[in-house]
Amino acid sequence: MGSTDMDIKGYDYGKAGTSPVTLHDLELLKATVLFTPADEENLRKGGEILIEKADAIMDIWYEMIGSHPHLLHYFSRNNMANLEYLTAVRMRFIQWVKDVCLRPFDQTWLNYQYEIGLRHHKLKKNKTDEVEAPPIVHYRYITAFIYPITVTVKPLLASKGHAPEEVEAMHQAWFKAVVLTAVLMTYPYIRAGEF
Ligand code: HEM
Repeated sequence: MGSTDMDIKGYDYGKAGTSPVTLHDLELLKATVLFTPADEENLRKGGEILIEKADAIMDIWYEMIGSHPHLLHYFSRNNMANLEYLTAVRMRFIQWVKDVCLRPFDQTWLNYQYEIGLRHHKLKKNKTDEVEAPPIVHYRYITAFIYPITVTVKPLLASKGHAPEEVEAMHQAWFKAVVLTAVLMTYPYIRAGEF
């Protein structure tokens, strides 16, 4: 990773603790979602498109959050959305897209997915941006969000003239990677010994 990646406020690998999920566990999870070396390549290929279109993706996801009061709630206080909070998270969200697509799924990546989970959970939510907002993003929405985060990127992947089967392969790779992240994020929500 280039040093500029660390310039995003609050996106700091050094501050992430060690994930309780081991690299061996991660390999088994990858096998479980049928993640192959071909997916890794397709993720890189799709990543180039997604990163170029990062603002468009974020507009779509933020429109989705903004148009659902029960989701906007997590960025709000007294029913008022905190725009600074939304903007700061948006920068880190874009960096996460880059990391998912381009970074090896190594110990550092694994640790940061855990950190992202902690930041949705009452253990660390609101701390990075020092905001007052609901103390936890409820578990059910993390899992449910896999669908919109997955389905919305397909038109973008298809926008650069790739053959339909190439688009499908890039999309499947993204879907698997999002499932992996979501699983890793939910560690703090699961009772000890049950993850
Ligand atoms: C698959 C599901 C999800 C993924 C992959 C995801 C990903 C992310 C990422 C990458 C960040 C920035 C982490 C950082 O600080 O570096 C973030 C922050 C955040 N997300 Fe999510 N998210 C998901 C679901 C949701 C849902 C359903 C909500 C509800 C609106 C939500 C609300 C938030 C909030 C409030 C923050 C800021 C947390 C803080 O205070 O630090 N996320 N998310």
